[in-house]
Amino acid sequence: MARNLAPKRKFRYGGGITDLVGTVNAAERIIKRFGGQTALAALLGKRQSTIQHWAKTGRVPAQWHQPLIALARQRGVVLEPKDFVSSTAREIRPAGGKLGILIVGLGAVATTFIAGVENARRKRARPIGSITQMGTIRLGKRTEGRMPLIKEFVPLAELDDLVFGAWDPIPDNAYESALKCGVLDRHEHVDPIADFLKSIKPMPAVFDQFYVKRLQGTNVKRGNTKLELAEQIRKDIRDFKSKNGCDRLVMIWAASTEIFMEESEPHRNLESFEAAMEANDERIAPSMLYGYAAIMEGVPFANGAPNLTADTPALLKLAIDKDVPICGKDFKTGQTLIKTVLSPMFKARMLGVAGWYSTNILGNRDGEVLDDPESFKTKEESKLGVLEHILQPDLYPELYGDLYHKVRINYYPPRRDNKEGWDNIDIFGWLGYPMQIKVDFLCRDSILAAPLVLDLALFLDLAKRAGLKGIQEWLSFYFKSPQHAPGLYPEHDLFIQQTKLKNTLRWLMGEEQITHLGIEYYEVDEA
Ligand SMILES: NC(=O)c1ccc[n+]([C@@H]2O[C@H](COP(=O)([O-])OP(=O)(O)OC[C@H]3O[C@@H](n4cnc5c(N)ncnc54)[C@H](O)[C@@H]3O)[C@@H](O)[C@H]2O)c1
Repeated sequence: MARNLAPKRKFRYGGGITDLVGTVNAAERIIKRFGGQTALAALLGKRQSTIQHWAKTGRVPAQWHQPLIALARQRGVVLEPKDFVSSTAREIRPAGGKLGILIVGLGAVATTFIAGVENARRKRARPIGSITQMGTIRLGKRTEGRMPLIKEFVPLAELDDLVFGAWDPIPDNAYESALKCGVLDRHEHVDPIADFLKSIKPMPAVFDQFYVKRLQGTNVKRGNTKLELAEQIRKDIRDFKSKNGCDRLVMIWAASTEIFMEESEPHRNLESFEAAMEANDERIAPSMLYGYAAIMEGVPFANGAPNLTADTPALLKLAIDKDVPICGKDFKTGQTLIKTVLSPMFKARMLGVAGWYSTNILGNRDGEVLDDPESFKTKEESKLGVLEHILQPDLYPELYGDLYHKVRINYYPPRRDNKEGWDNIDIFGWLGYPMQIKVDFLCRDSILAAPLVLDLALFLDLAKRAGLKGIQEWLSFYFKSPQHAPGLYPEHDLFIQQTKLKNTLRWLMGEEQITHLGIEYYEVDEA
């Protein structure tokens, strides 16, 4: 254990070298808000050495809290009692060693992700769309100019340290699967890495056609009970880890969408869940067995499909008990991504929405699976929830109370993975006058999903090393139906989700939260 504890390591970002743990203490943060040591000393009529002492010890003595809060109020400086409490970076285990990414399903999304990482590692392509690889984060005030790359700010696993494993009922290796899916150009991005892709062969899956009607597979595990099958997945996890010399693992569900299922008795707690597995209860779907196995093995788990899977009290409690971070559900890639950007705009401007008709054509295997009404229902529920939560019709009945929302997915083979998503949005403005917006998104489903898989794997691994467990709401950014604590509503607005994600990274590293208040830039120094 001690081997893994984060030392106070020097960490490079933004061109400078800064001590990773406890960069700025609570007293220094407060002093900065008042314009620095000299300014604050003058404002309080004290010697600068007093303020210097506060900065050095990191503590503002208690008798100064109230006077400083009063002074802050007078001068429009943001200061609350909690700001006096020292906030330093969490201890984060370093990202050394190999990180194994276990993917359930070796189809279009998984192979596009794996081939993309390998092409990026060989410097043959850029990991566009990945926040962990290309995103930056602002630290401190806008005037400070601190904008490190996220991957240089938080300790993430390197692409070179990633190894991949998968399960699939179809025995094709990653090379064969990538060619069949036809997402990536064979000559440009598949054949040059053929040997690497051929080495990734799917382990036999826990699969049952009852849950995915339009699929058949031969590479399937056998067992007398579902508990036995879960034990086999657990063994696969352990074997993969030791065979590949991995330091850590994460698991991502990128397999087909299962039939619609609601939370019920077997999902209520671990005892009923395990009893139901033993009794081969129909309400325990294969995805739940993977989720259970991952959590039992201490492996962070993300669900990229809308299935119920780990979004149950039983598995959530297990995740907390086992110190495992989890998140889901359903990658937010195309039409819903657009929806969660446009609808906050309507609400921000108090424009009404009378109707939103969304339709899609796609011709990949996912489209075929979703052609089954039971799998489509799972997807439909996931896609429909978004508007309700963003637009809050209860709060704005005049604007959104009568909104008609329809989502269709049509299987249309000629388009393969190149989905076309149309949105017709009927909005209304001043005095109720109607207007329309049309969106025609000619996208590529797996090209949009692949970078999400990478980010989720790296961030979940970070979460685990930082000691976070249970639902990782800060990763809502990546999902259509973000998992959330009971009693909370999910946050769907993409830019709120992005702020939440970045503020969580700042919080992990002991950096100040960014509120965007900005009043301090406009203060006239009267001292
Ligand atoms: N691509 C996107 O934009 C996007 C967005 C949101 C969600 N998703 C979801 O991601 C998932 C993967 O999408 P895709 O386009 O790669 O689909 P795909 O059909 O190409 O791949 C899914 C793979 O999962 C396998 N599979 C099915 N059941 C399994 C099981 N029990 N165990 C192991 N493997 C199993 C299938 O054999 C198939 O190879 C789907 O559920 C899809 O709805 C995709």
